[in-house]
Amino acid sequence: MHLNKNLVFLGMMGSGKSSIGNLISKKLNIPFIDIDNLIVENAGMSISEIFEKKGEDYFRNLEEKITLKNLKKIKNVVSLGGGGFINAKIRKEVISNHFSFWLNWDESTLIKRIKNSKKRPLAFKLSDQEIRALIKDRSKIYSEAEFKINCNKLTKTEIVRKIIKIYE
Ligand code: S3P
Repeated sequence: MHLNKNLVFLGMMGSGKSSIGNLISKKLNIPFIDIDNLIVENAGMSISEIFEKKGEDYFRNLEEKITLKNLKKIKNVVSLGGGGFINAKIRKEVISNHFSFWLNWDESTLIKRIKNSKKRPLAFKLSDQEIRALIKDRSKIYSEAEFKINCNKLTKTEIVRKIIKIYE
């Protein structure tokens, strides 16, 4: 069972899904898949450009298609986009067939990180208040992940160690 499951990282923008996922992949020697990068490759433009030129719905459809396709490839460490787990089909697939880790941080840390981000369209589009509401709404859904990792008081090394301990 353990052998056939991907390790899936989810959480808000700025929660470290890509950076922690990458470290875990190296530690466990399991290939790493970053869904945002695959979307960019597939579309041939940045995420901001996709939002701008094609719209968010187009992005969400592409995200669903690419995420579901890649979750079928076993076995990998997969970093979802922040909205990936909010999609019911993706969520069902992740919960039913894989290990899922929610990287959870205090709201203020997330807002700071999101606001500092230069490449995330939602960071420009949304006010602080809207980001706060998004964090609140999404957290209810993220909490369906199998493992919740409270990252706030931990260093990156400690977060990685905690996840590896759970996994092993
Ligand atoms: C999004 C998060 C981003 C990216 C897109 C939309 C979201 O991924 O998929 O900008 O809806 O939260 P990261 O969480 O990797 O920044």
